[in-house]
Amino acid sequence: MGSGKGYGKTILFGEHFVVYGLPAIASALGSYTTAEIKVVDGIGWEVIDQRPATPGYKEKKYDEAMQSIKNVIEHMNTDVGSQKLEITFSGDLIAASGVGASAAQATSLARAINDSFTLMLDDEKINEAAYEGEKAYHGTPSGIDNTASTYGGLIWFEKNLNGGKNKMEIVNSGKKMPLVIGNTAITASTAEVVADVRKLKEANPVRFEKIFSDYHSLAIDAKQALLEGDALSIGKLMNQNHKLLQEISVSGEINDKLVEISLNNGALGAKLTGTGRGGLVIALAENQDVQHNIANAMENEGFNAWKTMIG
Ligand code: MEV
Repeated sequence: MGSGKGYGKTILFGEHFVVYGLPAIASALGSYTTAEIKVVDGIGWEVIDQRPATPGYKEKKYDEAMQSIKNVIEHMNTDVGSQKLEITFSGDLIAASGVGASAAQATSLARAINDSFTLMLDDEKINEAAYEGEKAYHGTPSGIDNTASTYGGLIWFEKNLNGGKNKMEIVNSGKKMPLVIGNTAITASTAEVVADVRKLKEANPVRFEKIFSDYHSLAIDAKQALLEGDALSIGKLMNQNHKLLQEISVSGEINDKLVEISLNNGALGAKLTGTGRGGLVIALAENQDVQHNIANAMENEGFNAWKTMIG
């Protein structure tokens, strides 16, 4: 018997852009998924999924989740030919589109296998195994989700497009800042949305070059603002990042609506986070009173909202 954890994450800057080697900044959440493994009679593996989830999420992601678990088991050369693994997933991370739920599940599984069979793997190897799991969700994951899930904290991430080591740096933020996460309750397919962006980029190379260049300077400013704990600038940059995400067609009306609710209720900035076309929206608040107001306003409009801290 063994167990492991994988943190949820929120991408503060750079979802989708990160797939093309541009930098992104993610923060791990305090909530996590846990995996527990029992070796039982029989062969193969079975999953008991007790994670709390947005309605419909687990059903929509079922096939991908099973493939992801298989990828991790195979990558870690776990013996399922002469024993059976009973894998139970639980934890307080609400499985929803945008929160890194798939990466948290793969990371928790890699850690649980490591613990069960005393493999003594370091975080880099756990991260590699979780990345194999992420491939089940779309063919070209940037790796940011599993990296945030494995290491925790606030990270600057750049995918190495040549297949070498990705760049990962811990950002020591100048300040802890209140964040609201609003849930559209819509689960988008990361594979589909990533593929649509690729098509749009191929059809509009010049436009995308300009968008990518604007995003690149934005990311550098965002890192500086985070290091300085300059919440006002971070908020403005989040708004700009949301506009660029609209331009690459990944925001949906429902994301824009949650952004608008946030800004009308005092957010310093707001944007979609993760895949988009549903999923989650994040809003930065100046203090906990404003954070409370934003979360209440979202709930009054029928959305679930969670409060967390970043930095
Ligand atoms: C999904 O959480 C983030 C995306 O940028 C995809 C990826 O990074 O692999 C949309």
